[in-house]
Formats: sequence, structure tokens, C-alpha cells
Amino acid sequence: MIPLDLKLKIESAKIFYSNFSIEERASFYSKAFPKFPPLRIWNGRIEDLWFLGNDYTNKSSYYGSYPNNYLKRMEILFPDCHPRLHLFSGALPPGNYIRFDRRSDLKPDILGDANHLSEFFGNWEFGSIFADPPYSQEDALHYGCTLINRNTVIDECWKVLHKDGFLIWLDQVWPQYSKQKWKLYGKIGIEISTNHRSRSVTILQKV
Ligand SMILES: C[S@@+](CC[C@H](N)C(=O)[O-])C[C@H]1O[C@@H](n2cnc3c(N)ncnc32)[C@H](O)[C@@H]1O
Repeated sequence: MIPLDLKLKIESAKIFYSNFSIEERASFYSKAFPKFPPLRIWNGRIEDLWFLGNDYTNKSSYYGSYPNNYLKRMEILFPDCHPRLHLFSGALPPGNYIRFDRRSDLKPDILGDANHLSEFFGNWEFGSIFADPPYSQEDALHYGCTLINRNTVIDECWKVLHKDGFLIWLDQVWPQYSKQKWKLYGKIGIEISTNHRSRSVTILQKV
């Protein structure tokens, strides 16, 4: 059951309308980060590589937490896509979004298993889902969880997203997805610095 205050938070969030073109999204990015190279659009998609650098200021000590500046850059691209769900939210602080994780010690807004996401949200529709799953068996062990089934979770995300909504999936692999259900909107390589793992974000838009 979803607590009433969370229901209100989701329902009162700006309803999602994906009116912005990919070029407009890129221009939000350039205005916010004038010193960074412009976002690369190729064949109607985002195809970019971000060097985030080894910045530990305000970095959470939680294993696998988001690299600094990752969320700032990503949020700028999707300012309209609310309500927003942070799936595998880890140690993210409360904010203008719903946090979903299976570890009770982290006090997420919703405690649950991502493999069954749609059971928690019925037919509610999110404008965007930011997902940061454990990438490997070894990572899953760190969290005391079993490794998720990517295909199942991506299908569950589809069920709770608004049409044209975005799934922003950070991982070490390029996950499989159904072309009938999703359009590939972007791929962004993510580098921190030498001796850190290389990752990539797959941005899928629900069709
Ligand atoms: C890479 S961490 C995310 C860290 C987060 N990005 C942050 O900045 O703190 C992965 C998270 O997935 C959670 N997790 C693992 N399996 C899960 C599942 N089946 N359902 C929900 N959460 C799960 C773990 O508890 C862990 O907090």
C-alpha cells in the first residue's frame, strides 16, 4: 500500500507532457553548462560521452552512489518529466521525486522489489524513471540482494511510465528492450577517471 502523503505528492506533481524536441533539450544543457561541449545529437538521438571527473565533494559514501554531477546534468535534460521515480534509489536524500529501493535501512519512500514495480503503482504514470541497478552479481552481494532480471524490470518500468515518458538507465551493459515498446532516445558513455569502471546511460522513450 502506498501512503496517502506519497499519493498526494505523485498526483500533485506536474503532469508530464513531452513537448520539448531533442534540440530544445540539448539547448537547456548548453545554457546550464556553457563550459561543457554541447550535447551531441546524431541521427535524431543523443550520442555523447561525459567525463565526470573524480570529484568527491558532497559525494555520498554509499557503495555505488551516483557520480557527482551525473544527476545535475541529466535532470537539466528532462525538466518537464514529472512525476519522477528514482528506482534503486540507494542513499539519495528525499526530494521532488519518489525513491524506491528494497533496503529498509535506507528508508526509501517505497520499500519493494523492482521486479514487481507495477504492483506498487497500479496504473499511475511517471514522466521519467531514473534507474541505477546493481550491475553484477558481486554488486548485488554488496546490497544483500539477488541480481535483478533486467528484462523484467524494464518491462515493469514500461507499465508505470506515461506514453512518451523516459527511462534513464545507468549500467555496465546496454540492456535489451522491445522495439515495439521503446524508442532509443540516447546513449551516453559515463567516465569518472582511470581505474574506475566505464558505464553508460541508455535513454529509452516509451512509444
Ligand atoms: C547502485 S545502488 C544505487 C545507488 C544510488 N544511485 C545512490 O546514489 O545512492 C543499487 C541499489 O539497488 C537496490 N536494489 C537491489 N536490488 C533491488 C531490487 N530488486 N529492487 C529494488 N531495489 C534493489 C540496492 O539496495 C541498492 O541501494
